[in-house]
Amino acid sequence: MGYPHPAHPRETPILSRHFGDPGARSLEGWRERGGYEALRQALATDPQQLQAVVKDSGLRGRGGAGFPTGMKWSFMKPDGKVHYLCCNADESEPGTFKDREIMRWTPHALVEGVALAAHAIYAETAYIYIRGEFTEPYARVSRAVEEAYAAGILGADAMGSGRRVDVHVHRGAGAYICGEETALMNSLEGRRGNPRIKPPFPAVAGLFGQPTTINNVETLTAVPHIIRHGAEWYRQHGRPDNPKSVGTKLFSVCGNVSRPGLYEVPLGFPFRDFLYDVCGGAPSGREIKAVIPGGSSVPILTREEAEGALMDYEGFVAAGTMLGSGGVIVFDDRQDMVRQIARLTRFYAHESCAQCTQCREGTAWITRIMERIRDGEGTAEDLDTLVSISENMSGKTICVLSDSCATPVLSGLKKFRHEFEARIAPSRSTVAVPGALRAPAA
Ligand SMILES: Cc1cc2nc3c(=O)[nH]c(=O)nc-3n(C[C@H](O)[C@H](O)[C@H](O)COP(=O)(O)O)c2cc1C
Ligand code: SF4
Repeated sequence: MGYPHPAHPRETPILSRHFGDPGARSLEGWRERGGYEALRQALATDPQQLQAVVKDSGLRGRGGAGFPTGMKWSFMKPDGKVHYLCCNADESEPGTFKDREIMRWTPHALVEGVALAAHAIYAETAYIYIRGEFTEPYARVSRAVEEAYAAGILGADAMGSGRRVDVHVHRGAGAYICGEETALMNSLEGRRGNPRIKPPFPAVAGLFGQPTTINNVETLTAVPHIIRHGAEWYRQHGRPDNPKSVGTKLFSVCGNVSRPGLYEVPLGFPFRDFLYDVCGGAPSGREIKAVIPGGSSVPILTREEAEGALMDYEGFVAAGTMLGSGGVIVFDDRQDMVRQIARLTRFYAHESCAQCTQCREGTAWITRIMERIRDGEGTAEDLDTLVSISENMSGKTICVLSDSCATPVLSGLKKFRHEFEARIAPSRSTVAVPGALRAPAA
């Protein structure tokens, strides 16, 4: 029995290879496993060349949006300005727990990726912004940074390269919105963690007004492997007919599955095989009803849709959803979708930073409606109101938290409308027109 579950033979463990191996946590142990060789190589390489390799590898951001990493880095030029790298370790998306495991088991893998990326974008200073509740990951990463400084891997003369690389670890205070990149920067600057209007984009004016690159933990941890083994090696992982989605991806799986946990598979893996072979399907005697494949912000799939999907950016879009953060939430046939969706909308209403009217009012309003439908007190008109509010709060705000709240409502109503309708008492399903004559009660 290995890390919390045995590795499945169909996994391709690259980032997760040393999960469950406490020896990999220390600097010595990490070095014994080949750690910091990629950084040594990178520090002796021109940043533009590193940017080109990462671009060529096809790596895309693993934080949710899938933006090409090499392209993001190529916005950072040798312009003589102070540059910053931010590592987004805020991981608060419901259903997502992949970055947490990277930091718990292989903290030096992250430190190496962060230092390498800092050099590649002409930055001397990097910040790792860790979710406030992540007590153990914070301790592990802080310890790894201390060890790396003591060994001269970080600091004024990183690995004897003559280049300065400083890494600061910052612990958040538990706000989901601080995972949004510009809110994260505001929070790091000591301000309220509100997202900023873009443009300007971080590459132009980011942290402290300086050109900044922000990347997710998983993205940065993949980079040393690419530098060590080459872009072509990385591109081999994925389905041959889709060069837009390559490499492996960590998927965290929770909910009604026999084997929940964290799995690493190549992008393009068949979702049916993942759900049944790798994760063991629904617990005994049950049937999967619905799946959210990419963290709570992406559209819900029915079982049939999920079974036909391929696990990459394009495959999930073709199935009507998104890869997102790779947080797979499985619901079996016992689950009440109205209750589940109401729980999600309450989360977003609680986490809204309240700058935008559509989000502040919309998230609270649809939560009230969802909860009264859940409690059997909704009306048929509530369903139309839900659609109308959800549509009006999508695509109109500073960040996409507002859309994220609307998404499960819209996809839930589209795919599980019968469950909503079953919650509405017949006596409440007509419009009460003021002054209209009503038939006397029998
Ligand atoms: C409300 C909201 C929350 C987010 N939370 C996270 C998060 O916890 N971790 C993360 O890496 N990205 C998060 N993102 C995405 C980031 O804004 C950003 O796209 C990402 O860190 C970029 O890194 P990548 O290119 O490596 O994916 C969030 C976005 C939004 C709108
Ligand atoms: S959409 Fe919501 S969370 Fe995002 S900036 Fe506007 S109010 Fe804040």
